[in-house]
Amino acid sequence: MPKAPVNGTELNYRDSGTSKDIVLLLHAFPLHSGMWSRQIAALDKRHRVVALDYRGLGKSGMPPEGWTLELLAQDVRELLLHLRIERAAVAGLSMGGYLAFELYRQLPGLFRGLALCDTKAGADTDEASATREKFAKTTIERGLGWVADEMVPKLLRPDPDPATVKEVRSLITDGTPAGVAAAQRAMAKRPDSTPTLATITCPTVVIAGEEDSMIPLAEAEKMKVGIKGAKLVKIPRAGHLPCLENPDAFNRALAALFDGLPA
Ligand code: MLT
Repeated sequence: MPKAPVNGTELNYRDSGTSKDIVLLLHAFPLHSGMWSRQIAALDKRHRVVALDYRGLGKSGMPPEGWTLELLAQDVRELLLHLRIERAAVAGLSMGGYLAFELYRQLPGLFRGLALCDTKAGADTDEASATREKFAKTTIERGLGWVADEMVPKLLRPDPDPATVKEVRSLITDGTPAGVAAAQRAMAKRPDSTPTLATITCPTVVIAGEEDSMIPLAEAEKMKVGIKGAKLVKIPRAGHLPCLENPDAFNRALAALFDGLPA
């Protein structure tokens, strides 16, 4: 996989397909761009698909102290400059959705379309951000095996496919404890994106796994209502990661938006 020199570090990324229609995929916590393998395979005949690993997750360089989603969005912008990409349809899942909101605030002209998947607009409550701090500390003490034990049951539907469990564990353990801790702390500090919803003017789909136990479907409904003209697609037989648990239905929902967009 290629690496791009970005803001004093190196970002690992996937870049597949030759179309002028670009799709940018923003992954979930604590995974990496490998979670999009089925989407890349399905979309790259009609689109050029770019997916990066955030610093500290997957194989990108480490984040500095005080890491934020604002800085992460600046990494994404530098990567797009490096790749000479000015316009893209963007899909963000969970933490990738938080990042998509930040990117939209910084660079609304980038967006040809937007897919917000298993994510939410609101910021953390004080209690949620305290839980993230505890998670970050325990990650440093106990490592990525503990992170996988904690996260996998939350990320997948109640009766997960054993092969998917194995795949998600491996996506998690490819990262670094310090990177996972930094990502948690960055999410804890993220601002409320609810006011951003009304500013989104590109075609948008909200996608949610019907069995997502991390982010309730009510959050998807709120985003649909808040973004003018947005559609909502619910994915059956899937928890928080419908891209892995029901890729055919998930890919259809993405393609329904992305295939119809002007360049
Ligand atoms: C994710 O899937 O990206 C995270 O679980 C989101 C979160 O912790 O809020």
